[in-house]
Amino acid sequence: MDFGFFTHDVVRRGKIGHGQIGPSPALRRGLLEEADREIRRWLGALGFDARAAEAGPADVAALEQLIERAQRLRLFTIGGVPVRNFTALALINHYLHPRLYIESGYFTGSSIFAAFFNKRLERVIGFDPVPSNYRIDRESEAVRVDRRQTDFATYEGLDVPAEDALAYFDDHINTAARILQSAEKGLLHVIFDDSCGVNGTCQRLWPSMPTLFFIRRHKEIAEGERLSWEHHPASNLSLRSLGKRLLGRSGPTRLECRFDDKMLELCREADECIAAVHKIPDLSDFIFDLASPTVETTQHFVVLKRR
Ligand SMILES: C[S@@+](CC[C@H](N)C(=O)[O-])C[C@H]1O[C@@H](n2cnc3c(N)ncnc32)[C@H](O)[C@@H]1O
Repeated sequence: MDFGFFTHDVVRRGKIGHGQIGPSPALRRGLLEEADREIRRWLGALGFDARAAEAGPADVAALEQLIERAQRLRLFTIGGVPVRNFTALALINHYLHPRLYIESGYFTGSSIFAAFFNKRLERVIGFDPVPSNYRIDRESEAVRVDRRQTDFATYEGLDVPAEDALAYFDDHINTAARILQSAEKGLLHVIFDDSCGVNGTCQRLWPSMPTLFFIRRHKEIAEGERLSWEHHPASNLSLRSLGKRLLGRSGPTRLECRFDDKMLELCREADECIAAVHKIPDLSDFIFDLASPTVETTQHFVVLKRR
């Protein structure tokens, strides 16, 4: 091929279908070790170094095995956390080592499985109105998993010290409501997935509005402003998807969110509960995962004010 870029090319090219793709095993392990250092550095900069030191160093070989077990259980699927976010969650769970892990929107259970990387974990409480997608069998559950078909709003509240609990919201429900509920139930540390800014919100049919981005900026938004978008479902040739289209149950949808006084007041109340919001490091530079369409993480770690 006569192509300008070719002059300095160091990549060998050939026919496809020969051998494994992705980093070689030792490089993959080295990158996972780097990912571990990245999360530890990030938590250290947030002031969690003492807690991370208490948890001890992460066992990267065990993390590699946990990822392989999750793959065997087919936990990584469309709608669930990708491997890079699973890795970040597993490491955060390890270093914060809560005794209680709460999750709203557990779906296949992939993010619950990441929480099992924490050796101090005693109990998991999971909320999801659709329990049938859960794929972790009893023998693979590291601790008792109390799965509830109710909403997190009905949760009775913490029975452990606030530092001993971590909650993860991946239910795509109103972030402001979830923050107020978390504060009321005594939580200090909560993680949100898919609570995005303008573009991330406008890419979703279920956008968690008002999201962290708008909650933190509510003072700059005038009453009556709007955000409107269209959602076009990814074309999918499965029989189920074609059937839904024929029955008119899927297809493009127009969505609109109005920042009326009620919504802005909700944002203000939620913002009052927040001590800090930190974006979780994006591990896509470290973790090979071509199944994910993007290389941007949407996970945020929120520290709530102590009541
Ligand atoms: C994006 S998926 C969660 C992915 C999951 N965390 C994982 O890693 O596999 C969203 C889930 O939220 C659930 N959901 C919808 N409404 C909910 C609610 N009010 N409370 C809890 N979960 C809800 C859906 O049934 C779905 O399983």
